[in-house]
Amino acid sequence: MPHCSFLDGRRAMLRFLAASPILAGLGLPRAWMSVGAQTPDLIAAAKDALDVFDFEAVARKNLSPAHFGYLETGTDDDATVRANREGFSRYQLRVRRLIDIGKISTSVSLLGAAWDSPIFLCPVGSHRAFHPDGELAVARAAKTGKHTVMLATPSTTSIEDVNAARGEPVWFQLYRREDWNQTRQMIKRAEAAGCPALVFTVDLLGGSNRLTGTRAQRRDTQSCLSCHVGGLNDNRRKPMIADLKPAPAAPEVGPPTWEFVKRLKDATPMKLIVKGIVTREDAEIAVGHGVDVVFVSNHGGRAENSLRSAVECVPEVVAGAAGRVPVIVDSGFRRGTDIFKALALGATAVGVGRPYIWGLAAFGQEGVETVLSILRRELQMAMRQAGTTTTKQITNAYLVDRLPTVPSGRQ
Ligand SMILES: Cc1cc2nc3c(=O)[nH]c(=O)nc-3n(C[C@H](O)[C@H](O)[C@H](O)COP(=O)(O)O)c2cc1C
Repeated sequence: MPHCSFLDGRRAMLRFLAASPILAGLGLPRAWMSVGAQTPDLIAAAKDALDVFDFEAVARKNLSPAHFGYLETGTDDDATVRANREGFSRYQLRVRRLIDIGKISTSVSLLGAAWDSPIFLCPVGSHRAFHPDGELAVARAAKTGKHTVMLATPSTTSIEDVNAARGEPVWFQLYRREDWNQTRQMIKRAEAAGCPALVFTVDLLGGSNRLTGTRAQRRDTQSCLSCHVGGLNDNRRKPMIADLKPAPAAPEVGPPTWEFVKRLKDATPMKLIVKGIVTREDAEIAVGHGVDVVFVSNHGGRAENSLRSAVECVPEVVAGAAGRVPVIVDSGFRRGTDIFKALALGATAVGVGRPYIWGLAAFGQEGVETVLSILRRELQMAMRQAGTTTTKQITNAYLVDRLPTVPSGRQ
């Protein structure tokens, strides 16, 4: 066979670019690189992964274009997905030397419970669109690594089964229904299942323009009847919605406001978390409405195309919460140093979304386990490198903010 040095050279260059930390710093998902660059490097087993991005390429290979598009999409031109990665490069690590780093503890305490790790699994809908074992595989993997799980309203497994697989009740994420009686039914079901916390997501109330996902759907010629039995909005495979019982209708008038948060608070003894807060003002209002944890998130760049990274929103939300309630964060976290930076900015815990789904789509439960163990290992290494042995020690003294802080909003 003739040797094609041009192609070999091009492939080598693409491989180099795909592996380059410059690209990772820019936040470009490696699966968006040329297939030519990825094919030779696809990992064959979870244990071969060097970082969480190694699972993304395998997920892309395993999933139909529509499902992969649903997973990866941001909104408009996906700029906020990229911004979520770029935001981390604003903060440099300011590390200390010659500290006794023989013993590292990553444990944190949240809502009166001790967690071994600050890393939790964000609510992501429809896990069985990514692997037949779906939420059960994820819950079992989380159990192995002792991670807290948030189960999404549009999950493809019931909360009772997920709790059994996790070995303890998970947190339930709520998308409210347009009928209060139905919303209430979901809350009561989560409560009856023993869930300690209700996570109310507020960042999609204005809609979201998911063009990458829609384009991928259009390109996909396969019909996926096992997922979409009766069309895209068919909820029959989503037990938290499909199992709602007929009840006297109590229609909501328009999208919810802070009044609704108060209603949720009064409706359940579960702790209430509001997911999708990105400003100091809203953090203050949330605390005023009895919210127990403020969750900084831009839905992984899938809500408004704000161009603001989630990590850069942490300082003002922490200022708004003012130590009265904990702040947690997700969106764009892929490395131990990312997690370290959020903790240093004042977050108590950090969620991952797409990375564990890449692991699930790539290798099922083992993939999720490996993604989580890579993140744990990387966080521990970042802590050792910085000279911090407990999460409490990780403060903003370990960061340099490259931009002068120009606070937005009210002071
Ligand atoms: C495919 C997909 C489905 C999601 N489904 C939900 C959901 O049902 N409820 C919710 O509150 N957030 C949902 N999210 C947002 C995640 O909870 C989380 O905020 C986001 O994935 C974090 O960003 P990351 O993917 O960059 O880690 C979803 C995210 C993805 C990627």
